Amino acid sequence: MSNVVVVYHSGYGHTRAMAEAVARGVERHLGSVCRLIPVEEVDERWECLHQADAIIFGAPTYMGSASAAFKGFMESTASFYLAQPWRDKLAAGFTNSGSLCGDKLNTLLQMAVFAAQHSMIWVGLDLLPARSGIGVFDGQLNRLGSSLGAMAQSNVDLPPDHAPPPEDRNTAAHLGERVARLAERLGHP
Ligand SMILES: Cc1cc2nc3c(=O)[nH]c(=O)nc-3n(C[C@H](O)[C@H](O)[C@H](O)COP(=O)(O)O)c2cc1C
Repeated sequence: MSNVVVVYHSGYGHTRAMAEAVARGVERHLGSVCRLIPVEEVDERWECLHQADAIIFGAPTYMGSASAAFKGFMESTASFYLAQPWRDKLAAGFTNSGSLCGDKLNTLLQMAVFAAQHSMIWVGLDLLPARSGIGVFDGQLNRLGSSLGAMAQSNVDLPPDHAPPPEDRNTAAHLGERVARLAERLGHP
């Protein structure tokens, strides 16, 4: 049983689809609860984040880094940085981009450094990369071969009910379930 918060930004809905998949994964772990908090609402909900066992960060990759709205959220935490209220909480992250690569590793790196600034414990993705050469839409998890967090790629001409593909959403759910399981093992910080 663990209490997980997903805080995310999504300009056009594709990263929100990933956030929803992460939440489904968290709640696959029996008794765990997951709250989804868009960055636009975080100012009214800081207490939810402070009470969580784990916080999972989500942002689209815009111009090779986390979107400005998500970066705004990151910077707003400077107001309580010195108090370190997130010390020893688990952290994890996911991102989504239009191109297959799209430079989105940089977004996960930003999140991991941010988590370290708050003395959080980063949880990566415990999945080997999908095997290449047999098609990329064949149901394999970790289609994009990430280790630091869950990656998704959404064709820019497809709406969020069609992109990202199920492989990426299921990868996000896997990460959510992993974080919930580990948070239970670690207990409330
Ligand atoms: C301002 C802006 C910058 C973007 N920069 C990148 C980029 O650097 N790499 C990339 O692959 N896609 C880039 N994209 C495409 C988005 O990452 C992609 O459309 C993503 O699905 C958007 O997620 P969202 O619907 O949650 O906002 C950019 C989109 C916007 C609007």
